[in-house]
Amino acid sequence: MYDLSGKTIIVTGGASGIGKAIALKMASVGGEVHILEFDEPKGRQTVEEIRRMNAKAHFHPCDVSKQDKAKQIIDDVHAQSGIDILINNAGIAHVGNLEQTDEEAMDRIYDVNIKGVYNCMYAVVPHMKKQGGTILNMASIASTVGISDRFAYSMSKGAVLTMTYSVAKDYIEYGIRCNSISPARIHTPFVDGFIKKNYPGKETEMFEKLSKTQPIGRMGTPEEVAALALFLCSSEAKFITGTDFPIDGGFIKLNG
Ligand SMILES: NC(=O)c1ccc[n+]([C@@H]2O[C@H](COP(=O)([O-])OP(=O)(O)OC[C@H]3O[C@@H](n4cnc5c(N)ncnc54)[C@H](O)[C@@H]3O)[C@@H](O)[C@H]2O)c1
Repeated sequence: MYDLSGKTIIVTGGASGIGKAIALKMASVGGEVHILEFDEPKGRQTVEEIRRMNAKAHFHPCDVSKQDKAKQIIDDVHAQSGIDILINNAGIAHVGNLEQTDEEAMDRIYDVNIKGVYNCMYAVVPHMKKQGGTILNMASIASTVGISDRFAYSMSKGAVLTMTYSVAKDYIEYGIRCNSISPARIHTPFVDGFIKKNYPGKETEMFEKLSKTQPIGRMGTPEEVAALALFLCSSEAKFITGTDFPIDGGFIKLNG
C-alpha cells in the first residue's frame, strides 16, 4: 500500500523504541533513512539491521540539542539527496512535580525535547520550502492532558504540539505538511528506564499500573506508532496538516 521509494527521511532518536520502529518501517517500504542519534552503538546497530533487510540507512552521531551539529548534518544530507521527511522523535523523560524539578532538569528537558525539535525544523524548513516536505513531531498525551508528576516533560510536549501548529500554518503555502503524534504509554526502553530509575524494587507493580492507565488495558507498541507515522508521512495523508493524532488506547477520551 505504501511506497517511499526515492524518499529521503530523517529520523531523530532512531536507535531505540518508537524511533527505531519508525526507521525500520520507513526503510521497509523503500525509504532511505538517516538516523540522527546520541547513542552511537545502538544507532549503528539499527542501521545494520535495516541494511540486512536490503534497505537503505545511514547513521549520524548527533545530539539534537546542539544546533550547529544538527544543521550541518541536515545540510549535508540535503546536498546529497534532498530531504522529503523529517521525523522529530528524539526525546527524554523526567519524573517529578514542579518542586521536584530543579533548574538543571528543566534546562535539559528544554534542550532536548523542545530545542532539539526546533533545531531540526530550523535546519530543514529552508530546504523543504523549495520542494515541499513532511514533518512529523513526537508529542505526547502529556501535551494536552494533565499527567501527575510530569511537570517538565508536559511543558516540553506542550511546546512540541504548539510548534507543530505554528510550522504547519506558516509553511502551508510552501507545500510543507506538519503534524504530530501523541502516544500514551508505549512499551519502549524509555518506559523501562524511568520505571527502573524512579520506582526501584517496584518495577512489576508499576508496569501493571502504567499498563492499566490505558482503558484498553495495555501499553501500545512501537510498531503501532510506526504504522501511524508511516501513514501520516505517506502521500495517502497529503490532505492532513496541522493536526495532532493521539494513539492512546482510549486514554484521553475514555478515562474517568
Ligand atoms: N514511550 C512512551 O510511552 C512515549 C509516550 C509518549 C511520547 N513518547 C515520545 O516518543 C519519543 C521516543 O520515545 P521512546 O519511548 O521510543 O524513547 P527511547 O528512550 O526508547 O528512545 C529515544 C531515543 O532518542 C535518543 N536521544 C535522546 N536524547 C537525544 C539527543 N539529545 N539527541 C539525539 N538522540 C537522542 C536516545 O538515545 C534514544 O535512542 C520521545 O520523544 C518520547 O517523549 C514516548
